[in-house]
Amino acid sequence: MASSLQGIKSIEQFHLDDVRVFLRLDLNVPLDANGKISDDTRLRAALPTISYALEKGAKLVLASHLGRPSKAKDPKKLSMEVVAQALQEMLEVDVFLVEDPASDTPKALLAGLKAKQVILLENLRFNPGEESNSREFAQHLADYTDLYINDAFGASHRQHASIYALPTLVEKKGIGLLMKKEIEMLERVRNHPDKPFVAVMGGSKVSDKITVIEKLMDAVDVLIIGGAMAYTFLLAKGEKVGTSRVEKDRIQFAKDVIRRFESRGKKLLLPVDHLASSSFEHLEDLAVTSSANIPEGKMGLDIGPKTIELFDEAIKTAKTVFWNGPMGVFERKELSQGTFAMAQAIAESDSLSIVGGGDSAAAAEASGFADQFTHISTGGGASLEFLEGVKLPGLEVLRPPKRSEESVEEL
Ligand code: 3PG
Repeated sequence: MASSLQGIKSIEQFHLDDVRVFLRLDLNVPLDANGKISDDTRLRAALPTISYALEKGAKLVLASHLGRPSKAKDPKKLSMEVVAQALQEMLEVDVFLVEDPASDTPKALLAGLKAKQVILLENLRFNPGEESNSREFAQHLADYTDLYINDAFGASHRQHASIYALPTLVEKKGIGLLMKKEIEMLERVRNHPDKPFVAVMGGSKVSDKITVIEKLMDAVDVLIIGGAMAYTFLLAKGEKVGTSRVEKDRIQFAKDVIRRFESRGKKLLLPVDHLASSSFEHLEDLAVTSSANIPEGKMGLDIGPKTIELFDEAIKTAKTVFWNGPMGVFERKELSQGTFAMAQAIAESDSLSIVGGGDSAAAAEASGFADQFTHISTGGGASLEFLEGVKLPGLEVLRPPKRSEESVEEL
């Protein structure tokens, strides 16, 4: 199977000295109630490409979105100011924050930019042209771009101006070091996983994971399902789930998945016990259930100890593990056991272990085992879409037109 990167150039293939490089990053970091960065994984992941470009003498314009300002009550809280400060400390360079990316300021600043200085554009989504993939907005960005580099894997499933329209307007374009690593790692899972291949799926919604479950069904040897999405599967099997969260309109899908696993002789593992409580807010009666059934009036909030053992056994034998979604509400200490136990089991297994971003990346970090995984993706939606086989607009736009690929192959 051809690599998804076929025909796409990487930053290492370009001359960078004195070149104005527009570096699209995914610096969409989570912020706490005080507006402080609560997890800087995405910033740290962006550093190798930034440092590489600076070492080679590039004049750098860094750009990203932050949150979803059009939906926020107070969009100005989503300023890149906090990111500028963090990058300044991490990189030990001066970071100039440009308020209006569509103005003449970036061009003027670039003209006088010195070593150890970079430009960071304000939240791209403050301009409505970003999400509408406006060619006009992209043209403003193109006006001060000699080379376009996309290192924003996590945002490459979005057909937005800085991801899609802009590279159509720039002749020289390619990907950064993070993008390359993300694609190479996720391709190992998607195209040729070493067997046994165990997928651990969790999180709250079956509906978010339908396509990826469909896609993984042929490749995996064992599918482990935990988190709130397990209750829909348990209900489909005829277990009692109390007041647990279920998606009634996904029960038929769950039944089909169970049947298809059985008919192929593959293992689908579901929780055999739970931590359940009558309320999510107050956990006074939180207790381990004696079986997969959840008593009336109670809701499952984490997997139980027998389930941890069952899942651990399967993970131990794996040569490839893909993990997406927590087993319980891991942000609360009382409900973190299942998720952290999975993180530990995966980290200690002798497998190529890949964590699909979003909640699972945060859970891996919180578990303390993050540095023992082979790769933690910075993409949430993007990593799932990539595994589902969806072509990412942010990559496709960087590929030369088919005819030139053919003529290169013919030579
Ligand atoms: C993410 O957090 O998954 C990426 O930054 C994309 O953000 P979005 O889902 O708001 O487009």
